[in-house]
This record gives sequence, C-alpha cells and structure tokens, in this order.
Amino acid sequence: ATTIRKVSPTRPEPEIISWAADILTKGGLVAFPTETVYGLGANGLDPNSVAGIYGAKGRPSDNPLILHVSHPDQVDKLSTLNKIAKQLMEKFWPGPLTLVLPKKPGIPAEVTGGLDTVAVRMPNHPVALALIGAAGVPVAAPSANRSGRPSPTTAEHVHTDLAGRIDAILDGGQAGMGVESTVLDLTSEIPIILRPGGVTFEQLQEFLDSVTIDPSVLGERLPENMAPRSPGMKYLHYAPSASLLLFEGKGEGKLRLITERAEKLMGQGLRVGILATEENAGRYPGEAIVLELGSSLSPEAAASVLFGRLRDFDRLKVDVILAEGLETRGMGLAVMNRLRRAAREVIGCS
Ligand code: TXA
Ligand code: MG
Repeated sequence: ATTIRKVSPTRPEPEIISWAADILTKGGLVAFPTETVYGLGANGLDPNSVAGIYGAKGRPSDNPLILHVSHPDQVDKLSTLNKIAKQLMEKFWPGPLTLVLPKKPGIPAEVTGGLDTVAVRMPNHPVALALIGAAGVPVAAPSANRSGRPSPTTAEHVHTDLAGRIDAILDGGQAGMGVESTVLDLTSEIPIILRPGGVTFEQLQEFLDSVTIDPSVLGERLPENMAPRSPGMKYLHYAPSASLLLFEGKGEGKLRLITERAEKLMGQGLRVGILATEENAGRYPGEAIVLELGSSLSPEAAASVLFGRLRDFDRLKVDVILAEGLETRGMGLAVMNRLRRAAREVIGCS
C-alpha cells in the first residue's frame, strides 16, 4: 500500500522527512514535490532501487533519469565540470535547469539508460532539498506519473497514477511551475536545449555566448535512422486518454476552425473538450466542455495549469480535446512542446 503524508511545503517537518529518507535508503520509492512537478524518487546509486522506478511507471528502460542533488558539491562525484557548467549552476541552481554532463564511473546504467552522460539538477523546493539531504545520496527522480501520462502537479495526481505501486507520497500541495525543468545538453560544442522548461531559452541566451534548441523540441521529425539526443523525446508523452488536436497560429482562424471541428465531432455524437485561452473561452459552442488555459499573454499561468487541465478532461470523459496553441516566446515554448507531444494531430491556422 502507498502511504500519503502531508508535509509543510515551506518548513518540512524533520520527522516526516527522516521517515521518507529512510524509505529511500532502504531501497523504496517516494514521490515528493519539487518547484516544477512531483518527482518519483529512489536512491540514485542503487541499481535495484532505480529499476523499481521503471517498473512502477511502466517506463521504457532506455529513457534515462535525472539525478537530483541538494548541494552543487554533490555533482563532483557524478561528473567533471567545465567552466560553463559551473557558471550555469551558480546562476540557475537551485532551480528548474537540468544539465546533461559527461558521467563519471559508478553511476548505475539504469540511471543513464546506458548513455555515457548523466543529467543532474538541484531542485528549488524545501521538501525536495530536505529529502535529498536526509537521504544522503543523489536521488533519481522522473516525474511521478505513469509513463506517457501528463506529469503530476498535485499529490492526488500521483495517487491516481501510482497508488499501490510506490511506498509513499509526500503531499506538499501544488507544485509551482507546472512544467518540468529545462534539459540542457552541455556535452557538445554549443549547449543544446533538449527539453524546454522552467528556465527559458531567452534566459539562457542572455547568459550564454551561444545556445541552440534541438529540432525535436517543436516536433520536427528526425530523419529516418537518426537517434534523438534525448531518448525521452521519441515517445508520445503527456497525453490524456482523449485524442488531442492542437490548433496553432494567430487570430480568428483558430477560433473558426476549432468551432467548425467541434460542431462536426459533436454532430457525430462525441464528447468534445476545448482547451481555450481566456480571451476566446466564452466564444465556443455552449455544448462543448470548455476549460481555460489562462490568458494568451501569460504562458507562465498556462504552464501552471496545463497538466491539471489535461487530467480534468479525462475525468470529464471527453473523447476529443481541441486545444488552442500559444506563441512560443518565454514559457510558451515549454507549453507548446508539451502540447505538441501530447497531440495526435497539429493543425496550422491563419
Ligand atoms: O522538472 C523535472 O525535471 C522533473 C522533476 C521531478 O525534477 N523530472 C523530470 O524527469 O521531468 P523525467 O524523467 O520525467 O524527464 C527527464 C528528461 C527525459 O526527457 C530524459 O530523456 C532526459 O531528461 N534525460 C535524462 N538523462 C539524460 C541524458 N543523460 N541525456 C539526455 N537526456 C536525458
Ligand atoms: Mg516525465
């Protein structure tokens, strides 16, 4: 059975933290809040514990995990750091930036998916930091969802997906940002964003001499037989049970095309959900189930509710979700990356 315990998100109770850390050191699995989404933690240096994560999530074993640390010095045992890595850690840690670095020996292959690199991050959340500190080891932690499902932003989401499959859930309330960390690969000449997230492309551009975005981030197809740099990118992900159709582009075209499609699908007897910007939410047919993503001018707000809305549509048992796309500026890039990866079809509108 899975034990859920409430924990203060600002001043985590030491007794609860040591109870959870004990589970980790004994090889168990504990879900915990971070500033991005909930993570599913295991002792990152123990192959058997890490294998448990893959089992609980149903995650393909070639998709590597992030090692979470509670202090930058912990990375010295995991990787050799160049100047850029040190500067990025200084500037953005603790925070939603994951660095992909050359790995040192001693890290289980289960963590790295057999790659010669390792992903590390120091989360900016009192519960996460206290737990990792008390466990005394780097904590391997993917998002605490069943593989392929939207990432969890509440303890309840974790419970829905993983009850009975993990030992414990620390309930520290809503995870803040709502989308995962930015994954930045520092092992090539120019740093590459493999997954956009809580630290934006613009923030990295301002700080680094050069930085690029992997073409797969916005769903461009890789040439046949080319392996993706980040194994996680090849899977349909973040997907609710309903089919999601994503409508992109500015202006009235989007509103019109979504309305037409909604009417057609409802005419076929299907339950239709619409994920709408605040500006347009009141303008869709009344029979559709409309949930708001917030203002098109505030991608941060959209990020914080996105995964919860996708799960809400599942609870409401819609057959199809028609989603309005946002612009890809700032946090909009992370939101659009998640929506594109969840989408069965992307429709351009003018
Ligand atoms: O915000 C986050 O990063 C959350 C919280 C819990 O920290 N964690 C998270 O983990 O999102 P996960 O496993 O759901 O996503 C990790 C991503 C995957 O896309 C994976 O393929 C990639 O990071 N990754 C991990 N190690 C890698 C490596 N060595 N090289 C390239 N990509 C890697
Ligand atoms: Mg994930």
